[in-house]
Amino acid sequence: RVPVPALLQRPADAIVRPQAAAHPKIPLPGDLFAPERRNSRGVEFGARAALDRLLTDVKAEAADLKPIADATPEQANAAVAVARAGFAAWSRTPAGTRAAALEQAAHLLESRAAHFIALLQREGGKTLDDALSELREAADFCRYYAAQGRKLFGADAAMPGPTGESNALGLRGRGVFVAISPWNFPLAIFLGQVTAALMAGNSVVAKPAEQTPRIAREAVVLLHEAGIPRSALHLVTGDGRIGAVLTAHQDIAGVVFTGSTEVARSINRTLAAKDGPIVPLIAETGGINAMIADATALPEQVADDVVTSAFRSAGQRCSALRLLFVQEDVADRMIEMIAGAARELRIGDPLEVATHIGPVIDAEAKQRLDAHITRMKSEARLHFAGSAPEGCFVAPHIFELRDAGQLTEEVFGPILHVVRYRAENLERVLQAIERTGYGLTLGVHSRIDDTIEGIIDRVQVGNIYVNRNMIGAVVGVQPFGGNGLSGTGPKAGGPHYLARFATEQTVTINT
Ligand code: NAD
Ligand code: ALA
Repeated sequence: RVPVPALLQRPADAIVRPQAAAHPKIPLPGDLFAPERRNSRGVEFGARAALDRLLTDVKAEAADLKPIADATPEQANAAVAVARAGFAAWSRTPAGTRAAALEQAAHLLESRAAHFIALLQREGGKTLDDALSELREAADFCRYYAAQGRKLFGADAAMPGPTGESNALGLRGRGVFVAISPWNFPLAIFLGQVTAALMAGNSVVAKPAEQTPRIAREAVVLLHEAGIPRSALHLVTGDGRIGAVLTAHQDIAGVVFTGSTEVARSINRTLAAKDGPIVPLIAETGGINAMIADATALPEQVADDVVTSAFRSAGQRCSALRLLFVQEDVADRMIEMIAGAARELRIGDPLEVATHIGPVIDAEAKQRLDAHITRMKSEARLHFAGSAPEGCFVAPHIFELRDAGQLTEEVFGPILHVVRYRAENLERVLQAIERTGYGLTLGVHSRIDDTIEGIIDRVQVGNIYVNRNMIGAVVGVQPFGGNGLSGTGPKAGGPHYLARFATEQTVTINT
């Protein structure tokens, strides 16, 4: 009998966490059909009529947001033991069967779009645009890793050799992979990590962010339904302390982590201090992401792309723009245009279709951001401050810094910092970007090919976007991930990702 996975146990002594999201009492939407509905991504789901049907269904969804129990350390350890027992059968399951389960998961996600969108809005505080594009990304991850997995894991690669000897190289699962994810993409990143590890033949213990356990729970139930054996995939809910129990476990074979640089370092130390096999860490972390706009850039386009990059999703994207370098000659005009565009943003209830910016994730995040705004007000020049309703909302702000060095850490919210530079000092701008130590995303707005090429050659940044916004990497199109303090690579949604979850085996047979 397959043991019951940890997620489905609700022991009486488990800690019951109050609903962590910032907006548990937001009422059902009243005007999803508002004429000003602004929805670009939603149209990808089909014709307008299909979108209207979807919105009706989202409105009708009564997402269950009852508190969810945290696992105990004993349960976390038990989940690793059960996953270890489940590894042998899953790793021997043909790649085609594993891939088919992921494809079925994508299909189920899409057929339950309204339910997941409602959950993303209510537990994650996502606007409709963001919830729709996250659902699309989650389904894309499932299908992309299935397609890659069929190629990579379908058959061992024949290698050359002398007559009388056959040589083959194959990719195999490593064992139990621990997958630890953040709250800002509670469906897409959660599923991206888990499906990649499963496709590579690992069994998985997944620990989602403490702020968004319910979305994760439903995603795991969906994967089980899609054909992933219960013995191969387990959910362990709880905060960083439970994550630490999992990463310290002697029987794990790998960790995939997305979150802050600080926590990635701590996991790295835990893994390094362990006796026994060396356990690999795949870490995708934060950034102090910059954009450079020179005097040849189109100001309207810069304004639009800056506002999207810095403020969409309330700035709660690892890819978001934090530090804008504007050439001195055009700085006043550009800042004015950016502030003008920011003024148009509607901040408030994410369930209102016309809302551009919803809440930040919780009161703690709001406090941190408010403290940063207070500090900036005394250390920098305020160009723009939006207004936000009561609650866990943070209005967009634009500050001008004297020097990029004033921003020493990632500020995970809708706060843009601007620095002017003189054309002859572009090299100093690149050095300032380098000095942050991060290397996740970079935006460039220029019409001079030599400038663009020079910057691309010079910076070690994972994703560079030229003359467009710098968020919303598409699976299989813009493989995503950074360098330095921003992560270990490989890139999520890219062709090299799955191989890092596997180990290689060469078989030589004397025929
Ligand atoms: P976080 O680091 O606080 O938490 C991430 C996860 O780690 C959570 O599940 C948390 O419970 C767990 N955790 C915390 N302490 C732990 C420990 N000691 N051992 C094991 N697990 C532990 O990050 P967050 O606040 O959830 O997310 C925001 C951060 O994530 C930002 O820095 C953002 O830039 C980053 N991020 C990066 C990417 C990327 O692809 N590069 C994507 C999204 C978010
Ligand atoms: N992959 C996400 C983006 O590109 C974080 O915005």
